Amino acid sequence: MKLIVTMLAAAAMAWSQQGQDLFARRCSGCHALDIHKEGPRLRNVYGRKSASAPGFDYSDALKKLNVIWDETTLNLWLTNPDAMAPNTDMAFRLIDEQERKAIIDYLKTLQTNVIGIPSHKPFVR
Ligand code: HEC
Repeated sequence: MKLIVTMLAAAAMAWSQQGQDLFARRCSGCHALDIHKEGPRLRNVYGRKSASAPGFDYSDALKKLNVIWDETTLNLWLTNPDAMAPNTDMAFRLIDEQERKAIIDYLKTLQTNVIGIPSHKPFVR
């Protein structure tokens, strides 16, 4: 039992590491976790309403979108942002499904509440 738990934990860590590496390669040119760059900061984006990071100048297209970022909406977004929000400023698509999934899972692990416990509730500021 202990061995299985250890193996699962190792697999989960490897997967999350993959997501983190992919995020660095594919997203970090325009996004950081805690500061706005060309794109808004993405820590706690999972479970948050679209276009709601304070202080970021979103396009009208994204302001109109009005979704909660979860597995389904993030997957659609990364597949083709323009299909979700025509004329969005995010000019980027991630065609590889596995990569999308790894990055979305990674974003999920960044979703924490004030005492650092992962939660799927929207982050309260
Ligand atoms: C070429 C630059 C660029 C790249 C690369 C990029 N983005 Fe973006 N992203 C943006 C911009 C700009 C916006 C704001 C779009 C708008 O206002 O229309 C955005 C918006 C977003 C949003 C909506 C955030 C919110 O607060 O509603 C998410 C989620 C997102 N990006 C995720 C990602 C992920 C994950 C990756 C990597 C797989 C990525 N982006 C790669 C530029 C980029």
